[in-house]
Amino acid sequence: MDKYAVFGNPVGHSKSPQIHTSFAKQTGEALEYSALLAEKDGFKESAEGFFAAGGKGANVTVPFKEEAYKLAKSLSAEASKAGAVNTLSLDGEGKLCGHNTDGIGLVTDIKTNHGGSLTKKSILVLGAGGASRGILQPFLDESPDSICIANRTVSKAEALAVLFAESGNISACGFDELAGKQFDWIINATSASLQGNSLPIPVELIGKNTWCYDLMYANEPTAFCHWSKQAGAEKVMDGLGMLVEQAAESFLLWRGVRPKTGDVIGRLRTS
Ligand code: ATR
Repeated sequence: MDKYAVFGNPVGHSKSPQIHTSFAKQTGEALEYSALLAEKDGFKESAEGFFAAGGKGANVTVPFKEEAYKLAKSLSAEASKAGAVNTLSLDGEGKLCGHNTDGIGLVTDIKTNHGGSLTKKSILVLGAGGASRGILQPFLDESPDSICIANRTVSKAEALAVLFAESGNISACGFDELAGKQFDWIINATSASLQGNSLPIPVELIGKNTWCYDLMYANEPTAFCHWSKQAGAEKVMDGLGMLVEQAAESFLLWRGVRPKTGDVIGRLRTS
């Protein structure tokens, strides 16, 4: 059986084996998918060992996406722009190719599963780390009216805005500069939710038509989702759909078939 895996640290909580096993069953593809823990300083050895032993493809999660970017011998346009790789595949000569399916996974979730649109919308992206960088190009490809990146460390938001300036109307600011502004979309790409922290941002950011999306997900509503709901957002979403959609894109790259995602998302939501 063809072997696939997700590398991370920690990785025990990963839902990727469950998702890809469901996809394999649904599409009739014969493959095995496991979660592999790599030492914090041992990703390169682990990944190379996996492929040398016949592995066909891998997903890469925190904290190894930048290392995977460096390891890949060639990069897709998305991975190149994101500066990070979440999917590794092999080309015809057995060389490692790096892809990034996170951004397209998010956009697909927004458009297909939630019926949302980013076109001509004002978008606030909270955070300026790897997660933000991974979504900016796919967002800009949807032709929004504007994207504002707000971050605790303003210089990091400014650096990202410069990096993507050629692709659209993109600006940067600190949280304290958000007073008096309102947006169609607010995307939380900080890791604050993960620590259960709320962000120092004003509730007035949210109007009655604002949609809020937390890239994180948890069994209980995340701190950001809770805050958004309280502040009166029209729609509040977490990152479970994005997780399944990015996995479907990886599966497509590896196997040439894109699995259906609706039932898989539904089952994960209730499990
Ligand atoms: P990731 O790859 O998940 O984006 P990261 O690169 O470490 O992880 O970035 C984490 C992001 O969450 C950053 O934007 C970080 O802000 P700083 O750049 O100022 O560090 C943001 N972040 C994390 N914890 C936060 C908190 N408690 N309040 C506000 N922002 C936070």
